[in-house]
Amino acid sequence: MSGRLALVTGAARGIGLGIATRLFEEGVELILVDVLDEVKATAEDFNQRGGKAEAVKMDITDEGAVASLISDVGRRHQRLDILVNNAGISIKRNGEKIPLEETTAADWTRTMSVNLTAPFILCRAVLPIMRRAGWGRIVNISSQSGRTRPESTNGPYASSKAGLIGFSRVLAQEVADGGITVNSIAPGIIETPLQAMYGAHVQQAMLSRIPMKRKGTPADIAAAVAFLASDDANYITGTVIDVNGGMFMT
Ligand SMILES: NC(=O)c1ccc[n+]([C@@H]2O[C@H](COP(=O)([O-])OP(=O)(O)OC[C@H]3O[C@@H](n4cnc5c(N)ncnc54)[C@H](O)[C@@H]3O)[C@@H](O)[C@H]2O)c1
Repeated sequence: MSGRLALVTGAARGIGLGIATRLFEEGVELILVDVLDEVKATAEDFNQRGGKAEAVKMDITDEGAVASLISDVGRRHQRLDILVNNAGISIKRNGEKIPLEETTAADWTRTMSVNLTAPFILCRAVLPIMRRAGWGRIVNISSQSGRTRPESTNGPYASSKAGLIGFSRVLAQEVADGGITVNSIAPGIIETPLQAMYGAHVQQAMLSRIPMKRKGTPADIAAAVAFLASDDANYITGTVIDVNGGMFMT
């Protein structure tokens, strides 16, 4: 994948940082997007180690900012080979999910706009660049909670992640003849700051459901992203890869 250019959202920490690190190790040039300042230090670190990375501190729900970022990337680089829609949020209260009856419309709307609307806006923006190149890889980070057993997850989150899978399938079909693939990854329980927001007893209950008896790591998800973004996955589109230590079965 050396020489490809990728944009990764939510790259400051957690799974996004793991994905960025793996792509950097594969020789991919990076545009790292996050609301957090830490994303700048990550880009600097990659550059000092011989990579090419740009940090963009931005809220991906800002449609105008997304449009100007992608047109700027198109103008400067003339390409954008890989888009990883990773940034996501999950609202909780005291380390527990919020029941639907107590969920506000504002909780719902914010979750949808980060987890589902922003990936749509980003995909729409990058497609003309990928179509011109006749090659593109879009990987959307969904969740097991958009697939099965939603008991520890809140309603807006599970809905947004199920929606992201449906969206990815439709897009995959629409762009399949343009050399562009669109796939989703559904992580199970992955050790990240977002995961750490769950209380100890919720964590324990989750762990007991994982056949492999360990939580996943950002590197476990990054490996699946690297595969889907590579030429090895040329003939794979519209799919979901479950990366969960077997938890899907339990
Ligand atoms: N950790 C898990 O167990 C798990 C399981 C299933 C799915 N996921 C999904 O994986 C993705 C990454 O999760 P994580 O656990 O690494 O979360 P995290 O909270 O540790 O990291 C998410 C990153 O996204 C950034 N972000 C959030 N909102 C943003 C916005 N509006 N604009 C720009 N950046 C924004 C955050 O600043 C943060 O750096 C999410 O989509 C999440 O839903 C995580």
